[in-house]
Order: sequence, then structure tokens, then C-alpha cells
Amino acid sequence: MKNLQKEAIHVLNNNWKDGFSIPCANLYPFQWFWDSGLIAIGFAHFDMKKAEAEIETLLDAQWENGFIPHIIFHTDSDSYFPGPDFHRSDLHPESSKKYKSTGMTQPPVTGFVLEELYRISSNKEATLNFLKTVIDKVYFNHEYFYKNRDPKGEGLVYIYHNWESGTDNSPIWDDIWDTMNPPEYTFERRDTTHVDASQRPSKREYDHYLYIIDIAKEHNYNDEKIAELSPFLVQDPLFNSMLIKSNESLIKIYQLIGGHDEKVKQLQKWQEKSITNFNKKLFDEELGVYVHYDLRNENPLRYISSSSFSPLYANIPSKEQASSLVKVMMDKFGNENQYLCASFDPTNERFNPKKYWRGPVWINLNWILFNGLSQYGFKDIAQRVKQDTIEILENNGFYEYFDSRKEIHDTGKAGYGGNNFSWSAALLIDLLNR
Ligand code: DGY
Repeated sequence: MKNLQKEAIHVLNNNWKDGFSIPCANLYPFQWFWDSGLIAIGFAHFDMKKAEAEIETLLDAQWENGFIPHIIFHTDSDSYFPGPDFHRSDLHPESSKKYKSTGMTQPPVTGFVLEELYRISSNKEATLNFLKTVIDKVYFNHEYFYKNRDPKGEGLVYIYHNWESGTDNSPIWDDIWDTMNPPEYTFERRDTTHVDASQRPSKREYDHYLYIIDIAKEHNYNDEKIAELSPFLVQDPLFNSMLIKSNESLIKIYQLIGGHDEKVKQLQKWQEKSITNFNKKLFDEELGVYVHYDLRNENPLRYISSSSFSPLYANIPSKEQASSLVKVMMDKFGNENQYLCASFDPTNERFNPKKYWRGPVWINLNWILFNGLSQYGFKDIAQRVKQDTIEILENNGFYEYFDSRKEIHDTGKAGYGGNNFSWSAALLIDLLNR
């Protein structure tokens, strides 16, 4: 166990680029939003200065309207496509003048990451002083979401691109691809020179991804235009859970700091509305879990994925709803031949245990589920998620994602995607210390 932790520390230090971390070499050579946040949790256990710098650098790339981009292109690496010249964040009048970035965002983890840093810190006073210097930027980011990403005032924000979800090629998006017919783009993939193509999205999927960006670019990434025109417009339970959990954390931290009554009141208002409508709109009584909602085509996307269980972490479900989530998780994802927790329903025909977000186990989702299950008192299942996670990493190394089928792990080749992947290492360190 000690060695595993040492290896994880080694991975993190290797991916540290003097102010921020890359998710892994070659495949992802820049700073990614939600990666950065989760990586900071790992660093907090052994190098708080790096954890703080990671967050500071991320927030330094914030736009003048509060938006935080999903990739910050610190260098001109050509090992990644699509790079800064495709994304063209400069089209937006309020984009960062200091950093090139994408014009899309990622799950807003920063709020709860700040609370995690405080929890882990052995010098609470120093950490609270740090939090004072960054918390308003995170608040501003939440304000951006509620002002610009919630056209119906439901307290549920939309994402306009699958890359904003973090669960990039989930089978859930297939239904949306069916409504689109993008042109055939000509481009040179880079990801498939680093990773076996069978583990990555298809060329046709990339056509869809690029097309949505082109529509947003045509309108200089204007939020209103995107809400009006993007063929992809989804209320995602994972994304909204991250925002709601982060609201909760911001309230706690502001209360610790003291004297921020207006902001606390506003956060509480958002919280109340968000949680109420989340349960009204995204809980599917028949399936017994939370599902995504397609705001463009006005219909629920009735699939079960690891995102369906993530609201546990944000304290959104009632006790009854939580029990229902756990029952579905154990029935469909938790039999003895499967590691917890596959990213997509193993009983669905679209399940693919090797391909990116179409089935494999991801360490970040496991960490979110471990915490959510623990909060609701499902100690045994939380423990199983933790044990499964440790076993997977011990047997295969710090890969990006893993086959959910236990039999594949006997070969020691059940790790897929990038290797020496930062958040797999970071969250393992956190789990080992819990
Ligand atoms: C990728 O390139 O697959 C990234 O996940 C996009 O964020």
C-alpha cells in the first residue's frame, strides 16, 4: 500500500509543469479544468503549495464574464487535436487575454475542491487564508452558470458540448448524434497515435464534436446564440451535481470566513431551486435513477450511467431515492463479475467495457460515488467501491480508465487510454488516507 502511494506521488510530480499539471503526457499535454481540481486534492496530501498553485493557475485563466474554460493551452504542443487554432477562444470579447483556451467548460468541481483542501490541510489557518484569496472567483464562476446557462430559470444549467460533460463519448449522446448530420471534416487525429483506436471515439463522432464548436464559433461563443442554436443542449445530472456540491462547499467556506451574508444568501437560493428541480425533472421514477435531459429536443435521455448515481455526492436524493439508486447500481453494475463502477449500464446493448466513456471504470467517478455512498450511510458499498478502486490500480497501474469485467484483470492488461494519469493517482492518494 505504501508503495502504491509512493508511485502515485511520483506520477503527480512527473505531470507537474511548474504551476499546473497535465492529465498525462502526449495524449493531454495542457491543463484541463476538472482534472486540475481533482489533482489538487491529491497534492494537498503531500504538497499543499502545489495544490494551491494548481487552483490559482486554473482561476487565472477565468474570463471576464466568470467563465472557466475546459482546456488552457499553456504551450504550443502539436501532439493534441483540436488545439488553440481550432478553438479560437479569442473570438469571445471577454475571453482571457493572457491564455489561449477552448470556448467550452467542464464540470465545476472547484468549489468542493476548496473544501477538500481545507479538510485535508494540517494548517487550517494558512489554508483558510488561501481560500480567502480565491473563493470569490469560484463564486463568480457559479454566477456565470446561473446567469448564462439556465435559460428557463430552473436552477439547472445546460452543457452545449459533450466535451463539457467530461463523459465525452457516452452512449447517451448517440441519441443526439442521430438528430444531426455534420459535414465530413478532414483533420489529423492525434489521440489515436498515442492510444489504440479501439479505446477512443470514432472519426464520425469527432465530426459531430467539431461541428458543434463551429456553430459556437460562428457566433463568437455567445451564450444566448448557443442556447438558441446548438444541436447539443443537455441538462446533465453529473455536471449539475458538481455545481450543487460546489455551492454547498462555498456556503460552508464563506461561513467559516465570515461576513459574506449576501453571497451566502444567493448561494442558498440557487441551492434550493436547483435541488428541487433536479429531483422533479431528472429523477426517472420508472428507472429509479437520475437521467440526462435533452433540452434541444425536449425529451429525457433514459439511460443509466455512473452519472446517474453522482447526485448522492451532492446530497440531492431523498433517503428513498438514494435507496433506489443503490439498488439499481447493485443490480445492474455490481454483480460479482464486474468491478464497480462501470461508466455505462452493463446490461445495455450500447455498453462497451473498453471504449472510453462507453463502459470502462473511471477513478474520478468512483471517488465521487465513494463519497456519496458514505454520506448516505451505505458504508459497505462505499467500502467496496474503495477496495475495487485500489485493486484495479494495484493490478494495472495508473491508467486513465479500466475494463469493468473482472476476468480481463487477470491478464494485468485491463488499463486503457493514457498511462500515468494524474487524477487516477491523485484520488488514490485521497482514498488511501480515508
Ligand atoms: C479529449 O481530447 O478526449 C478530451 O477529453 C477532451 O476534453
